[in-house]
Amino acid sequence: MEQWVYEIDGNIPLTGEAKVQGSKNAVLPMLAASILQTGCVCFRNCPDIEDVRCMLQILQYIGARVRKEGEELYISCEQIEKHEIPAKLAGRMRSSVLLVGALLGRMGEAAMRYPGGCVIGQRPIDLHMEAFRALGSSIWDQEGLIIAKGCGLQGAAYTFPRVSVGATENAILAAVCARGETCLHNCAREPEIGHLCDFLRKMGADIKENGAKICICGKKKLHPCTFTVPADRIAAGTWLIAGAATRGEIALSGAPVSEMQALLELYGKMGGQYEVKSGTLLLHSRKLSNPAALVQTSGYPGFPTDLQSPFLALCATINGKSCIRETIFEDRFRAAAQLRRMGADIRIHGRDATVYGGILTGAEVLAEDLRGGAALVIAGLAAHGHTKVSGIGHLERGYMELCGTIEQLGGRCIRQKAN
Ligand code: UD1
Repeated sequence: MEQWVYEIDGNIPLTGEAKVQGSKNAVLPMLAASILQTGCVCFRNCPDIEDVRCMLQILQYIGARVRKEGEELYISCEQIEKHEIPAKLAGRMRSSVLLVGALLGRMGEAAMRYPGGCVIGQRPIDLHMEAFRALGSSIWDQEGLIIAKGCGLQGAAYTFPRVSVGATENAILAAVCARGETCLHNCAREPEIGHLCDFLRKMGADIKENGAKICICGKKKLHPCTFTVPADRIAAGTWLIAGAATRGEIALSGAPVSEMQALLELYGKMGGQYEVKSGTLLLHSRKLSNPAALVQTSGYPGFPTDLQSPFLALCATINGKSCIRETIFEDRFRAAAQLRRMGADIRIHGRDATVYGGILTGAEVLAEDLRGGAALVIAGLAAHGHTKVSGIGHLERGYMELCGTIEQLGGRCIRQKAN
């Protein structure tokens, strides 16, 4: 298979305006949810990224028809015939697991191999399975094949023992067409869950959200709708951090500012300045020079774990000592080893990283996961000299037109064949 790399010339402050892409983590559960109705749903602003392409392939495999017309994506779900997802497709992305909830709702059964996705920790699915059981489904693991059966799911009260974004979404998907009322407690509060509920409500679902409690009255049938995918708070945060690491001045149109408060607060403390003008987030990073005292990842509205690696790269460019604690995924400091190749002084002790920032220099580095890869691109943009990032397939799972956006912001990043 052909290998591609990003070739980056660094040490150029990013300046200019870019539009924020549609949200990956919002649209993936919505795509799974579209099989809960039997007509044709239309998505606007769907990001053109590998994870979406993979989810569409799975939907096509089980019987949906997918077509693109300009900016619009149509998914027809009149005939969903299969309930088993092949290992080759399921293994390519974590979100394939969301089809278990949706297939239970539509077909009363589902079967798939363990889902793939970024290697950032163990990522079990026990919480998903427990929630399905609470709704009356039987689900078991047969030598690595997850089999779920649940014709006539029955609404129930269920409290998640630990908070999980994916398990919350999966339980909602299974419950919207179950009989009777479901009340889910200790749900994740990430904005993408609210967006999924908005989408389901637009298809006729009856869902009430109240903080960590979500109540659903099951409906026999949902109907098609047209839905605009909201902007990606993690992609917007990535660009904010890239602007900050290069001490640039960028504008992000359509940035979901209200969902970015933890990052913006931190950015302000570090010396960055921002304002919002007619839906555009203006970021001035020229005076950014303060290291981060202690940043700790946590569930929303806390600092997102998905921005921890990019933030690590930013801290590596700031003189002084910054501290970052990862509390969600146990193996999410993988980018640190690659950043060290660029001269970063990052010391890891368990879930804590201490960064002594300074000047980075270009190097050949390997992206090993999506957000860790973004950290390497950011470091490359800030570094003196040339950086070559391989393993870019990880980045292309979640970032749309990455090189094009960098060029638009005056940076230099070219995608080319590895030699
Ligand atoms: C989602 C996001 C991901 C983000 C993460 C945390 C998508 C497609 N992905 O991932 O970008 O980093 O939320 O905000 O939306 N856990 C269990 N058992 C389970 C499920 C999860 O122990 O059954 C653990 C995980 O190992 C992890 C923690 O719970 O330590 C949080 O994971 P979860 O919120 O489920 O993350 P994802 O939904 O996989």
